[in-house]
Amino acid sequence: MPETSELRQRQAEFAKELHGDNVTKSGFSALVSKNKSAQTEAVAKYLKHWDGKTDEDAERRRLEDYNESTHSYYNVVTDFYEYGWGSSFHFSRFFKGESFNASVARHEHYLAYRAGIEKNDLVLDVGCGVGGPARTIARFTGCNIIGLNNNDYQIQKANYYAKRDKLDSQLSFVKGDFMKMDFEDNSFDKVYAIEATCHAPTFEGVYGEIYRVLKPGGTFAVYEWVMTENYDETNPEHRKIAYEIELGDGIPKMYPVSAARDALDKVGFEVSESLDLTDNDDEIPWYAPLSGEWRYVNSVADLATFFRTSRVGRTFTTAMVTVFEKLGLAPAGSASVTHALEEAAVGLVAGGEKKLFTPMMLFVARKPEQK
Ligand SMILES: C[S@@+](CC[C@H](N)C(=O)[O-])C[C@H]1O[C@@H](n2cnc3c(N)ncnc32)[C@H](O)[C@@H]1O
Repeated sequence: MPETSELRQRQAEFAKELHGDNVTKSGFSALVSKNKSAQTEAVAKYLKHWDGKTDEDAERRRLEDYNESTHSYYNVVTDFYEYGWGSSFHFSRFFKGESFNASVARHEHYLAYRAGIEKNDLVLDVGCGVGGPARTIARFTGCNIIGLNNNDYQIQKANYYAKRDKLDSQLSFVKGDFMKMDFEDNSFDKVYAIEATCHAPTFEGVYGEIYRVLKPGGTFAVYEWVMTENYDETNPEHRKIAYEIELGDGIPKMYPVSAARDALDKVGFEVSESLDLTDNDDEIPWYAPLSGEWRYVNSVADLATFFRTSRVGRTFTTAMVTVFEKLGLAPAGSASVTHALEEAAVGLVAGGEKKLFTPMMLFVARKPEQK
């Protein structure tokens, strides 16, 4: 169901109860300072739909509840993401000698470049996380960005970081469901989305809204999560990998690349680029940080990030969270979240190795000038 005002209010109140008012903490110290009963409820709401079932009925329920289940997912994983990965919640290509943070920033700069974002443009970031990419792109281009997100906690954090970094005159972050946006038609010069629109129940729904709010002649650029042309939904091994990604990343349904491409055409875009950025001979694959292969570590500065995201580091985090939960220091359900994140990592690496999945299907599309 798309968001209603009643759901919006309920989610805001729940986020306040769960996270409190203080968003200055992050990572592990934020993780252990949640309201414990609210955290248990959030974990239950997130895991409710992922019971191992992939039949039509189970999928229909996940698709119908996309807003609440994704909202709950990010309520429970945001601190883990910031602890393990940083404040940009996406993958990137890696090159020899390049630090993790440099590769994340390059990936964001590249999308801004492909979207043609210019100084003073008004830009929409669809599914903006805690605003890591928006801060980079605002600095890089001098544009103004509105970040749209249905997670109240992330919005609060994004606004806090923008102010902290003195970017609040360029950036603002607002609550909303990307399937039913509050913006007027033809509002934005450019729109981008990074690894977010895969949370939509249909690509047509979210791309249709993006098309509506984009000005005629404006550009939309996206890094999309899709299953590649090698994926066969009827192959149980393939479906297991897609399911692990759905479960561990709070995605109602992973769709094939053709679904995204067709949806762009259908809502009216002129697509100028459809390119899987993982389809290359890179020595270091995009999933390197999750693979646990130490040969991929590029610099001493990356050791801590690599450790936290590697298999050994994840096992360590899960063990620590389990102990904290047993001692009553971490809320009930925290360990099941780290288990789900572990399944996601396994599915993502398998999907990457077998070339069944990409987190960076680049589409660049233009809304035609009105006739
Ligand atoms: C993987 S994160 C990516 C965040 C950000 N683009 C980045 O790269 O750091 C996906 C984001 O999509 C947002 N999201 C998911 N479903 C949404 C919806 N229905 N409406 C608005 N935002 C949504 C999540 O809250 C989260 O911030």
